[in-house]
Amino acid sequence: MTLDDARNEHTTLLSQISRWDRLYHTDDAPEVEDAVYDAARRRLLALEAEFPELVSSPTVGAALTSGFRTVQHRIPMISLENAFSDEDVADFLERTRKFLALPESMSVVVGAEPKIDGLSVSLLYEDGVFVRGATRGDGSQGEDITANLLTISAVPRHLPPPFPSILEVRGEVYMRKEDFLALNRVQEEAGGKTFANPRNAAAGSLRQLDAKITATRPLSLFIYALGDVSETIAETHHDILERLKNWGFPVNSLSRSCTGIEEILSYYRSIGEMRSGLPYDIDGVVYKIDRCDWQQRLGARSRSPRWAIAHKFPAEEARTLLKAIRISVGRTGILTPWAELEPVNVGGVLVSRATLHNEDDISRKDLRAGDTVVIRRAGDVIPQVVRPVPENPRGAEAFSMRQALTPEGGDHPVCPACGSHAERLDSEAGWRCSGGLVCPAQMVERLIHFAGRSAFDIEGLGEKNIVFLRHIGRLNTPADIFRLQAVEEAISLDNKAVWAAKGKTKLPRDISLDMLSVHQGRLGILPLTAFAGWQERSVEKLFEAIAARRTIAMERFILALGIPQAGEGTAKRLSRYYGAIGKWWDAMSQAATGTDEDRARALGELTEIEDIGPSVAGAILAFFAEAHNRSVVADLLDLVTVEEARKAATTSPISGKTVVFTGELVTITRAEAKATAEALGAKVSGSVSANTDFVVAGAKAGSKLTRAKELGRTILTEEEWGTLIAGVKGQRPLTS
Ligand code: IVH
Repeated sequence: MTLDDARNEHTTLLSQISRWDRLYHTDDAPEVEDAVYDAARRRLLALEAEFPELVSSPTVGAALTSGFRTVQHRIPMISLENAFSDEDVADFLERTRKFLALPESMSVVVGAEPKIDGLSVSLLYEDGVFVRGATRGDGSQGEDITANLLTISAVPRHLPPPFPSILEVRGEVYMRKEDFLALNRVQEEAGGKTFANPRNAAAGSLRQLDAKITATRPLSLFIYALGDVSETIAETHHDILERLKNWGFPVNSLSRSCTGIEEILSYYRSIGEMRSGLPYDIDGVVYKIDRCDWQQRLGARSRSPRWAIAHKFPAEEARTLLKAIRISVGRTGILTPWAELEPVNVGGVLVSRATLHNEDDISRKDLRAGDTVVIRRAGDVIPQVVRPVPENPRGAEAFSMRQALTPEGGDHPVCPACGSHAERLDSEAGWRCSGGLVCPAQMVERLIHFAGRSAFDIEGLGEKNIVFLRHIGRLNTPADIFRLQAVEEAISLDNKAVWAAKGKTKLPRDISLDMLSVHQGRLGILPLTAFAGWQERSVEKLFEAIAARRTIAMERFILALGIPQAGEGTAKRLSRYYGAIGKWWDAMSQAATGTDEDRARALGELTEIEDIGPSVAGAILAFFAEAHNRSVVADLLDLVTVEEARKAATTSPISGKTVVFTGELVTITRAEAKATAEALGAKVSGSVSANTDFVVAGAKAGSKLTRAKELGRTILTEEEWGTLIAGVKGQRPLTS
């Protein structure tokens, strides 16, 4: 190979690798398998070894995203060299011995520990206090994510003495597998972005510009190394881990000291066997020369230390036929494509279906039914389709969700579970079923929401009972809740008659769900009290709780419908605006059944309401456009009484104004002040801007007050505010 050839290849590799780095580190959207990436990296290193002239190239690494402050690492956060085979590990030990010129008789102790698949971070403690946290970034500069790290409970704020005045520790932020699955469920429910694997979820969560979002994400931490330290704290890696533990850092409990290749490899195998059962993802094992003085002597190459190596697990991959791309309906109506596969064994598990994430992902990988594809069990959690195998004959047709959702001869996409319109969501690359109140796939979730705290708030009607009542066929739509008692009474009578005819007096009891099919045939429909866990008293209590909610506030009723994007705030504003459920119902059903003009008028009307934009308004109209939904709402309106909403006083000096409360309030709590202001038609904001009308400043008001003065906003004392709202409260509120 000539130098020119090498340079060409080197340049290509560099640009390829930095693209992959960017996608992986910055966009959290890896494009190629680790094995491909690793191979490119190895090839790059091999070229550089052969042609040292090429080494002056810029270090490949993750580009920094803007938004965080840049942190200069005191000691670069370099990566690890990878070992892929037993020989690579033996070679590492041999090189170490040679480098240190150790005699045969001297054994080399190695600290072995799982390689956590997360994001590396640096935590800096000054005089025992956590002062700064950073990402790795490009290795020499990272991002200041102190605020985000402070949301992780595993990060110690203070260290118990004694401690060195400067202590920088390094470790991995990760997400536990079950936390990842739960987060994705929540994300899906909220119509937000779901993550491909725990690592991406951890990265996406940690690198939020708003730490409040990070705070809602279940992140975990392991600390495994030191960065900059002002004094020596131990002589070996093992003792460093002990000291870290004593300071309260989470240290992985699977760390072991191993001597000799046999012990090391047997550790590797045992961790490999545990891998799928561990609560977090690991992608290998890391070996570190235990003695710190030897680590010092060994030092580092440009991108990795000589005293440590990562022994990677083989990627669990297999090839198989992608038989079809199918679409399933999630509990919240999100339509997700998945791959039906010719069953194949991937790392010991038989895989016959795999997630395809979303349409964009499918087009990016250009997956088609009929392709031979590479399957990988990503982080052991969910099997994924990595890419098609190009050498094999390709499937004929490119996939499109619109096409896949449109039935033959149909003219629009529909939900495969209930036939309601399927709509493309603007914000994400996703589709959703609009048949919220009728779709069987969504029913349990809908009913939980419907009966839940912020909606109908029916005591005793939680997930467990909803699932049960649905299972025995008593709950098919929300309206059935209000028919439960009548149905139960009819059934009991019926059963008594059947039973009496058979000359028996006692009804069956304690039937478990498994026995249902056996009994149902003989008994017709069973009363609730026949089932295990349902005593007369508990049934009565449930009916009482339901009866107590037959009259409901308008905003709760609206919220209960579970219209996508219409949360508590929207429900409140709609009920204030329309005042009576009948008015809203008329406006919405007219928009749904009328002309395009009617629809446009309704859209205009909705968007006139404060804080309701075109997207929310569109979701409301789409909900009513579905005839099934209208009939469920109509059915409900026959069964419950919706109270009229009190409209906010539109003429008050407060209505439509933006108010900021700051400082300590004495006569009322902050929450109460906010609620009162909102009830009187004001909007309460957390920060002062040019749009702020009033700033109510209590004792010790700080920067918000200063800012209000700078901007010349009206500043009120708590007392002045009290007088102002007393005047407003005195006016009679408008009702419809
Ligand atoms: S030691 C200078 N130990 O793997 C040595 N790294 O591929 C610093 N990692 O950047 C790293 N688990 O983010 C070490 N037990 C462990 C690790 C670990 C995961 C990550 C770390 C590092 C990357 C290298």
